[in-house]
Amino acid sequence: MEKILVVGAGQMGAGIAQVSAQAGFSVGLFDAFPGAAERAMEGMKKSLAKLAEKGQIQEKPEAVIARVRVFTKMDEVASLDPDLMIEAITENVEIKLKLYADLDRVLPAKTILASNTSSIPITQIGAATKRPDKVVGMHFMNPVPIMKLVEVIPGLATDPGVLATVLKTAERMGKTTIVAKDRPAFVVNRILMPLINEAFFALGEGLASAEDIDTGVRLGLNHPMGPLTLADFVGLDTCLAILEVLHKQLGEDKYRPAPVLRQYVQAGWYGKKAGRGVYVWEAGGQKK
Ligand SMILES: NC(=O)c1ccc[n+]([C@@H]2O[C@H](COP(=O)([O-])OP(=O)(O)OC[C@H]3O[C@@H](n4cnc5c(N)ncnc54)[C@H](O)[C@@H]3O)[C@@H](O)[C@H]2O)c1
Repeated sequence: MEKILVVGAGQMGAGIAQVSAQAGFSVGLFDAFPGAAERAMEGMKKSLAKLAEKGQIQEKPEAVIARVRVFTKMDEVASLDPDLMIEAITENVEIKLKLYADLDRVLPAKTILASNTSSIPITQIGAATKRPDKVVGMHFMNPVPIMKLVEVIPGLATDPGVLATVLKTAERMGKTTIVAKDRPAFVVNRILMPLINEAFFALGEGLASAEDIDTGVRLGLNHPMGPLTLADFVGLDTCLAILEVLHKQLGEDKYRPAPVLRQYVQAGWYGKKAGRGVYVWEAGGQKK
């Protein structure tokens, strides 16, 4: 394993490219939207500078950045000849399946295709390609450079050797791994999303203010962050998409998305990345 292509340069893709480069891999970063990959590179530089300041990386940030190459056209990504592709595009099943069919055509036969999806079945993604044995879930946590866990998910057809390679790669990135079955939302989001959803139901009912709901969970349950703040970090659009998958695929009312969550997404209040979610966020990422 030497070369990793990251597809999707949003908050997760940027973090995945960064930890891959920190681990010494040659990295390609591709996003379909003009300017997104370049913005991700700027974010990476800032993040690496902070880590260097705190003495948490040994190498100079420039040396890490030098291992990352930006691609702006899908036709060009094959020139990296990647051993592994990690996809972190928008959580939308149609868009993802189309992308996998395209990547399957463009990338070398050896390339393992790993998805950072929070909820879409890996088996379904695998079936969109002619290499379902090389398709696997590699679910990083947000923010990727800080969070220690990677959930690894084999699909129905995933080769055990591919699973073993991906586990080893995540460990080389300094992560702890768990293996989850290919069921909707896997382990972490299966447990987290009902908590976040309940916080939105509570907000909608006027049970308490957003701040008090967050403080209640933070201090009452000893969570590092309240669920509404966490939802702003994850992205309300992503939370809604995951809940819709849980609701549809498990068919249980307990996963029904809270109306307030749906309304905030309709308003474009996607959370920290949009400057507004449950809370209002400054450009620097602080709550106003
Ligand atoms: N946000 C989280 O906390 C979190 C945590 C774990 C996993 N995930 C998963 O990671 C993935 C990305 O989430 P995010 O929060 O980084 O989203 P994001 O909105 O920040 O970024 C998504 C990026 O994908 C790009 N994109 C969309 N369609 C594309 C295409 N066809 N080809 C190439 N690029 C495309 C967009 O331009 C954007 O830059 C989702 O599957 C999400 O479920 C998110």
